[in-house]
Parts: sequence; C-alpha cells; structure tokens
Amino acid sequence: MRVYNFAAGPAALPAEVLAQARDELLDWNHDGMSVMEVSHRGKAFMRVAAEAEADLRELLAVPSGYKVLFMQGGASAQFSFVPMNLTAPGATVDYINTGHWSHKAIRDAARYCRVHVAADSGGAYTSVPAQRDLSFSGRAAYVHYTPNETIGGVEFGYVPDTGAAPLVADMSSNILSRPIDVSKFGLIYAGAQKNIGPAGLVVVVVRDDLIGHARPETPGVFDYQAVAAEGSMLNTPPTFAWYMAGLVFKWLKARGGLAAIDEINRRKAQMLYAAIDASGFYRNSVDRDARSRMNVTFSLARPELDGEFLRRADAAGFKNLKGHRVVGGMRASIYNSMPVDGVSALIEFMREFERAQA
Ligand SMILES: Cc1ncc(COP(=O)(O)O)c(C=O)c1O
Repeated sequence: MRVYNFAAGPAALPAEVLAQARDELLDWNHDGMSVMEVSHRGKAFMRVAAEAEADLRELLAVPSGYKVLFMQGGASAQFSFVPMNLTAPGATVDYINTGHWSHKAIRDAARYCRVHVAADSGGAYTSVPAQRDLSFSGRAAYVHYTPNETIGGVEFGYVPDTGAAPLVADMSSNILSRPIDVSKFGLIYAGAQKNIGPAGLVVVVVRDDLIGHARPETPGVFDYQAVAAEGSMLNTPPTFAWYMAGLVFKWLKARGGLAAIDEINRRKAQMLYAAIDASGFYRNSVDRDARSRMNVTFSLARPELDGEFLRRADAAGFKNLKGHRVVGGMRASIYNSMPVDGVSALIEFMREFERAQA
C-alpha cells in the first residue's frame, strides 16, 4: 500500500512514474535488458537523454543561449563548482543568507572568493529580505540566493534584481513547482531528489557567457564548458536517475506543465497554512510573505506532544513529518508529486489529533 510520504528529499515520486519504471525494469525498450544495463553512448539511451533535456527545456521555457547540464555530486558540490567555474581568485561574490542551505553555500564559496553577504536573515531564518534591503557590493562576479530554504520552509516570493551581476539560484527544492523567467538568471542548479527524480543527478541551467572561465584546477568532469561540450557525457552519467527524471518530466507535461502544477501547489499550500492558522494548536512561525509552498513547517503549542503526534501520524500512513533536527517540530514537504488529497487527509488527521487532546 502506498502511503502519503511528506519527506523533504529524497522525496515521493509520482506513483505513475514508479509503476512505469517497474514495468520496464527487466525489459526496457524491448531490448531484454534494463535501462540500467545499457551503454550511455548507445542510441537508445542517447534518445532518453536528449528527450529529457528537451522536455526540461520546454517545461522551464529555457530561452536560447543557455546550456542544460546533467551533473553529479549533489547540489552541495555546486556550492564549490559555481565559484570555481564563474570566478577568478580574489573575486568578490554576493550571497543572500536566508537559511541553512544558503549558509552552507556561503561557507564553501568563502574557500574560493571574498564573500559579501548582501542580506542575512540569520538566527531564526523565518523571513526573506525585501528587494530594498539587499545591499550588494557593486563588484560581485555573481549574486547567489536560495529561492526556497528546505529546512526552514522559507521561500522568496520574488526574483531579486541584481542589476548587471548574474543571479545564481539553488533551486533544489522548488524547481519545476511554478513557472519562472529563466532569462532573469545567470545560473540555476537543483539536486534532483525533490521535484525531478531520484538522488544522484543535479540539473544546471547556465547562460552561455558564464561558461569557459573555469579555474585551471577545476576537475574536468566539473568544468561546465567541458561538460556542455560532451553533452553531459564526459564520463558515465547516472543513467537510471536520468531516465527517471525523463519520466517525471513527461508526467509533468501530461499534467499541463508548470502553469497547471503551480495552481495545484498554490492550493495545497493555502489549504495547509489556513488549517494551521485557524488552530491554536499548530503554529507556523515564518513571515506570511515568505512561507514556502513546498516545505510547510509547523510546531505544536504543546511540544511535549511532538512524539505522540509523529507516532500517530506514522501509524495512520502520514510518513516523514518530523522537522529537520536543526529546527525541530514538524515539516510537511508537499512537492509536485503530493496530491491535493494527501494534503486534505493530513489536515483531517491534524484536526482529529487536536480534538483528541482537548
Ligand atoms: C535547497 C537545498 N540546497 C542544497 C541541498 C543539498 O543537496 P545534496 O544533498 O544533493 O547535496 C539541499 C538538500 O536537501 C537543499 O534542500
């Protein structure tokens, strides 16, 4: 029986996609072999790879002049690959710090560049700075931000205007959740394991003029230009994850693409936040204009009931609701694959739990 899985990542995948992968697992493409067992350079897999890229370009409406790369190392590796590829030693880079992941990105960038923090909602991490509160260095090779902070449940409602400095975004936890204007970005990266597919793959969308400047010590397999020149097949890619990502892209297209999923995601988040706000029993401490539509954090007014809440939720088929250890409480990650019904059922469970404590 499938449960409602609210994990932050690796996260739930669409059941239809998993079923297709299951059906094709032993005999893919009528070849008598699994997609995992064939050469990445063979015609059949090359077609999978090309289709996945084309579908992703279509979903995101990537304009011409951008490369789409399929890489490895997780989003965390991009914390280093971005400065290694985009800057020379001694360069200044601007970072907006809105949570755990931007903080980690800053720590890694500081090994390669001078980091100027353009805004810092440090400490509680329950807000995002307004455009007028961003104080840029004026000499940044790029500006980096994290549009959705997965742990705190904090999401930007706007795309920062960085003037001439290219904008770099870690979209690991909100890519493909709503339409975006890619032309506003110099580089977007996202680990796959939330809205794209299984872990092991990182998608990078990068403007052409930003590649070709990697520092000489950058490993070849992580040099954006080298990766682009080889169609992301400079070495053996994670073929199964790439195939799965391709199935997820087709699933998303069949559901109407990002405009359609945007509507559904908006509805799910509204329902859950409204239920939390209407109760004195549950609380969300993120500023209203910064509430994440993907990761809804909440705590109980009586934290001594946390354990009981999680135990009962788990038994009722609502899995992985425990908040990240650095913030505690609860977190419901409601990525694209979470149906509206899953959120309604969770709300019903939360109401019943509250009633039982009265
Ligand atoms: C926003 C964000 N950035 C980076 C990461 C790190 O990703 P990875 O584990 O793929 O390195 C995560 C992981 O959850 C994330 O949510």
